[in-house]
Amino acid sequence: MTAPDAPDGVDVEKPSAARIYDWYLGGSQNWAVDREFGKRVEKVWPLIRPISRQNRAFMNRVVRAALDAGIRQFVDLGSGVPTAGNVHELVRDRLPASVVYVDYEPVAAAHSRVILDREDAGEWAGIVERDIRDPEAIFADEITERLIDWAQPVCLLMITVLHFLGPGDRPDELVATYRDRLAPGSWLAVTHGTVRDDAPPERAAEVRAFVDAYRDTSNPAYLRSAEEIRPWFGGWPLLEPGMSTLPDWRPEAPVSEEDGEVRPFAWGAVGVKPS
Ligand SMILES: C[S@@+](CC[C@H](N)C(=O)[O-])C[C@H]1O[C@@H](n2cnc3c(N)ncnc32)[C@H](O)[C@@H]1O
Repeated sequence: MTAPDAPDGVDVEKPSAARIYDWYLGGSQNWAVDREFGKRVEKVWPLIRPISRQNRAFMNRVVRAALDAGIRQFVDLGSGVPTAGNVHELVRDRLPASVVYVDYEPVAAAHSRVILDREDAGEWAGIVERDIRDPEAIFADEITERLIDWAQPVCLLMITVLHFLGPGDRPDELVATYRDRLAPGSWLAVTHGTVRDDAPPERAAEVRAFVDAYRDTSNPAYLRSAEEIRPWFGGWPLLEPGMSTLPDWRPEAPVSEEDGEVRPFAWGAVGVKPS
């Protein structure tokens, strides 16, 4: 696959975490250097691509369900490179609606700007290049102010991003700050890496090796149990089927054996803010 022109100033000789993730998803915004790095990671954790795709499919089902429920505003925290069926691609056919992407990685943000510009989506979608640990700056950003009316329901997506926050980042308090900002009827969607007790031991060891490899980098990752994730919903009712493995959240087709293998390694759930 040939990637389109890179944004000005973006180095395509050096692998980028956001573009590697794009490759896991089968996206178009990755270069040879990213794919080579991704293939090395795949050797350590062969489930990385299937789980990334299941994660994206979960997010797609949530966004479509939110649109069907009448929600017209989407805030995607830790959005990465928005290709391979990202939020604005799903929303485009259901306008009027608005999308705010948030990512602090300059390469992800630069690609996001180019994509939204090229697709002429600037009027209803934007990228806020900020750290999700600074919610007040995200709320006050001119792009958020232009596109989001917090008095109306919002679908807030925290998809495969909270595992980058350690205990020192106080994720419970941070997620509560976002929850408080949302109007009744809003949705909060979370996916998060885990290792459930029913994981085959050799597969569980691969995940732990993968996480350990990142332990001393600038992007350490944390696995969490359902008991640690549930409080982030602040007691809000969860949409059926509740806290779920990724493939089993409202599947649209029978789950294949390969897709089923990711079950022990991630949780997904969607909460709805009560009136
Ligand atoms: C694994 S990717 C997930 C992308 C997308 N949410 C998905 O599920 O397909 C995680 C993204 O979160 C971003 N990220 C991690 N920590 C962040 C933070 N503190 N603030 C903003 N973005 C962050 C990374 O730059 C990366 O693009």
